[in-house]
Amino acid sequence: MSCWTDQWKDFVRKTSYKQTLAAEKISNDQFWSSYGIYDRALLLAGYPGEILGKISSLISPNSTLLDIGAGTGAFAIPLSKKTSRTIAVDPSDHQLQILMEKARQEGLDNILAIKKEWKDVLPSDISAVCSSGEDAAIVDYSLAAYSLFDENIECFLSRMIDIARKGVFIVFRGGGVDSLNEFAYGRRPYADYICLDHILSDLGYRFDRMLFTRNYSLPVDLVFKQYRFCKKSPEQLLGHLDEEDRLIERSDGKWASFQATDALLYLNR
Ligand SMILES: C[S@@+](CC[C@H](N)C(=O)[O-])C[C@H]1O[C@@H](n2cnc3c(N)ncnc32)[C@H](O)[C@@H]1O
Repeated sequence: MSCWTDQWKDFVRKTSYKQTLAAEKISNDQFWSSYGIYDRALLLAGYPGEILGKISSLISPNSTLLDIGAGTGAFAIPLSKKTSRTIAVDPSDHQLQILMEKARQEGLDNILAIKKEWKDVLPSDISAVCSSGEDAAIVDYSLAAYSLFDENIECFLSRMIDIARKGVFIVFRGGGVDSLNEFAYGRRPYADYICLDHILSDLGYRFDRMLFTRNYSLPVDLVFKQYRFCKKSPEQLLGHLDEEDRLIERSDGKWASFQATDALLYLNR
């Protein structure tokens, strides 16, 4: 095992939201159900932003897409307007229900859901939802955006590469940790796209890379909800944001400014 896979394992165990599931003794579905502001936060944060257009431009029309950890459909919904079929994999019933409701509202009938972690998805699960014959277990493209929460990252990546005929897209953190996060949780094991890039290269793959930065602001009550599992009080979080001169007074209350960088790693075959 390389130091990069060790770094990833440490990140999943000690820093990612999987650590919260263990510490709070809650299930993945309970975590997402208790995070009702997720879609609003994504919208205000301008996510996925430009990265979506880039992926869309690399996908050929009428192709099939496997979105691993599709969540509420930030990618699956818009990309399904271009694909012939999108398979959304996610272990959270809550997330998949939101995704499928959005699909219904948009009149999209080409999205199929598999409620499982990626490591547990069998080729037969894919054939079963596709209910078509030859090569049903192979898709044109696979995508995982902020969903690679598996300690066995080599297996996660190898499987998403092996299943995709034409291309693979990975979206993950491109920049450092927000100082608010470090203030709230202390310094924790870190991983970003560079770690993933090294693991991919050890597996024998050379992915292209692009970085996209988003500047945005969020109402502070929403920030408190994002940090609902940390040990700092809302007043302490506010104090930190104030010290960094990140608070904005608006007619509808206090907002805080943020910057996030997303990395796109892609393999076009
Ligand atoms: C941060 S959300 C990202 C959702 C979406 N891809 C996006 O970019 O908005 C992470 C999602 O990955 C799912 N997830 C976590 N671990 C997973 C795994 N091992 N396999 C598949 N999905 C997973 C979660 O249930 C959650 O819906």
